[in-house]
Amino acid sequence: MSVNQYDLAIIGGGPGGYHAAIRAAQYGAKVALIEKAKLGGTCLNWGCIPTKALYASAHLIEKVKEAHEFGVEISNYNLNFAKAVDRKNQVVKELVGGIEQLENAWKNDVYKGHGKIIGGNSNDGFDVSVEGENNEVIKAKRVIIATGSSPALIPAFNIDHERILTSDDILHPEFKTVPKRLLIIGAGVIGCEFANIFTRFGSKVIMLEYLPSAIATEEPMIVKVLMKKFEELGIELHTSQNVLSVENTGSGVKTTTCDSSIPRDQTDSAEKHIFEADLCLVSIGRAKISKDLGLENLGIETDRGAIKVNKDTLETSMKGIYAIGDVTGGLMLAHVASYEGDIAVANALTSIGGFPVSEMKPDYRVVPATIFTSPNIGSVGYRRKVAKDMGMDVLMGQFPYQSLGKAKCMGEETGFLAVLCEKESHKIIGASCIGTGAPELIAEIALGMQHGLTVHDIAETIHSHPTISEMVLEGCEATVGMAIHKKGRPIQH
Ligand code: NAI
Repeated sequence: MSVNQYDLAIIGGGPGGYHAAIRAAQYGAKVALIEKAKLGGTCLNWGCIPTKALYASAHLIEKVKEAHEFGVEISNYNLNFAKAVDRKNQVVKELVGGIEQLENAWKNDVYKGHGKIIGGNSNDGFDVSVEGENNEVIKAKRVIIATGSSPALIPAFNIDHERILTSDDILHPEFKTVPKRLLIIGAGVIGCEFANIFTRFGSKVIMLEYLPSAIATEEPMIVKVLMKKFEELGIELHTSQNVLSVENTGSGVKTTTCDSSIPRDQTDSAEKHIFEADLCLVSIGRAKISKDLGLENLGIETDRGAIKVNKDTLETSMKGIYAIGDVTGGLMLAHVASYEGDIAVANALTSIGGFPVSEMKPDYRVVPATIFTSPNIGSVGYRRKVAKDMGMDVLMGQFPYQSLGKAKCMGEETGFLAVLCEKESHKIIGASCIGTGAPELIAEIALGMQHGLTVHDIAETIHSHPTISEMVLEGCEATVGMAIHKKGRPIQH
């Protein structure tokens, strides 16, 4: 029996794997892409895309509610959640179909099944089995592992996928009922995005967070604006909560907590709080998918489930095998996985030789991150406190949406952009934004940072008026006290 031979086998077809497969084909490599579920992985099927499709419905409700302020009287509207879910499913289907077509167009072989590295080395190539409809073994000179992550299933939370759910359950194509009361454990990125969506859909949302703040990774002043909005929407956030138990009572869910400052061995005697709801979403982080990939056979090292990689090459402890994206335990973001796909492909193909590409080294200084609550959040680079703690001398400029003509016209006056630059050089080193279009605004800052621009480089670039992009112009000018639509004092000289 002949064995199919490839330059590169990629295990996992999410934004890391499918992207890497196309990139490798662009360089002329023969590629096998192995995926056991659907191309697009978490991002397209269970994460970024379906949530943003539901967010679009939620955002429309928000706008309809405000319509009277714009002189548009809408007397009656209803949420047809089943239809919103159907639309979300259709968006996912079309995008997944698009990826399939792209892989075909690049003549990549897509294998449906569970991929596992069963042996080999970087001189002779690796044997990779695909357990699925047709069990088969393929051979590849190099392998990239891009198996991603899945919701963390911590036993104490009793996730039963019936009333105690993960984000996968809530995004299931057949999840079509809006709960009256939704309890969300974990006020991180996923928790806050779902809190916003389901509140707009009419659920009473209660959130429980272990830390003293929601999305603790963001600038505190950004979190403050979001929390004010959550309060207006009636979202109940309880911080510093140690969840002791979660129980499906048959007719709902019941959670018992105590203050998270109480030591774990003293929780029995601690004062308890009870929270009840119809459904519970557990969003307390994600676990890396690194089991049953054959890592042990080849001595590939892991750390608490994360595949260890050489930070300069993304090669694992086995020469010729690379790992990218969530499974490496780095920044769990789709765009980071895709970026790492480029790096791993370049290094894998360079090590084979004969491809029009050379080695690449990852650079994580500029990684934009976005949160699709309403208002949206976007951030990149340093937070002010981190920069200061590192001993950097910084300037920060803030510009509010309410001072921008376009934002006022759109009725989008909540929020601000804060730009951070080095005091001496005026080079941009970070930005945080909450407000309409924040994720898009951050992209311009990211470009500036990537190319070492100063706030003046951006400020001297003509920005079209009236646009939300002027937030970036004014934000950069504000770092040196020169925003036009902001009061201030003459520059000292
Ligand atoms: P996360 O790490 O953002 O948030 C988890 C939250 O749960 C944290 O605030 C944590 O303190 C809290 N927590 C942990 N254990 C807890 C407990 N026992 N009781 C109460 N609270 C507890 O993780 P999340 O939201 O699950 O997201 C997973 C990954 O997916 C993240 O890396 C995130 O960046 C990524 N993601 C990115 C999105 C985007 O780019 N827009 C959207 C959704 C997820």
